[in-house]
Amino acid sequence: MDIILLGPPGAGKGTQAQRLVANRGMIQLSTGDMLREAVAKGTPTGLKAKAVMEAGELVSDAIVSALIGERLDDCSGSGAIFDGFPRTKHQAAALEILLGQRDRKLNYVIELVVDEEALVERITGRFTCANCGASYHDKFHRPKVDGTCDVCGHHEFKRRPDDNEQTVRTRMAEYRAKTAPILPYYEEKGLVRRVDGMGSVEEVAAAIDAILDS
Ligand code: AP5
Ligand code: ZN
Repeated sequence: MDIILLGPPGAGKGTQAQRLVANRGMIQLSTGDMLREAVAKGTPTGLKAKAVMEAGELVSDAIVSALIGERLDDCSGSGAIFDGFPRTKHQAAALEILLGQRDRKLNYVIELVVDEEALVERITGRFTCANCGASYHDKFHRPKVDGTCDVCGHHEFKRRPDDNEQTVRTRMAEYRAKTAPILPYYEEKGLVRRVDGMGSVEEVAAAIDAILDS
């Protein structure tokens, strides 16, 4: 099963993708994670993407579509969760071609519907395990009481350089202008399922499970 998790920054795409990986053995393809890895390694892609990401703008369609193309065969059995991709009409068209070349097609586009003001709080409070990438929040999801990651037991955490309020506002504007307009394309295909992303992590997960099991 191949699905897209669609929603603005902080909607919970990464959090829900991690749960689907753990519970269903699906593979998370996050272009944000791939780009951050490229930046950390200083690859040519990373060098191009760094400033764009720190400004909260979108990296070029060609770069992110190529990253997805490189990883698509890793998840031919278990299915992919596209997290943060596609983000433009051009990327949506590229994904359709990439899947079609492999006789695959999307099963669902799950839109996480959220309140933008709540997202600023979610994002500015966010941090992740420096070892396994598990997602945490200052208020909503703390590590264990002894300060270690409840997935891998590591004790170091990190914050993203683009998780400040000003950049978050730019990322949201990019979402409204370039990403939200791809929804009608998927609606026409009957693929869109809306989930209230304002519930707890568990409530959102249950709503997604109900769709995938239907
Ligand atoms: P990317 O990494 O994709 O970031 P994003 O879309 O801005 O999304 P986030 O990762 O911020 O949020 P999320 O929805 O995953 O929320 P999360 O689960 O972490 O992209 C970063 C940048 O890379 C872009 O700005 C762009 O420059 C570039 N880029 C990436 N892909 C691209 C593409 N395809 N094309 C062009 N450029 C691209 O949750 C957020 C916080 O809230 C966490 O702390 C979490 O614990 C908490 N939380 C989650 N769910 C809940 C809940 N239900 N209740 C309470 N708290 C919750
Ligand atoms: Zn961890």
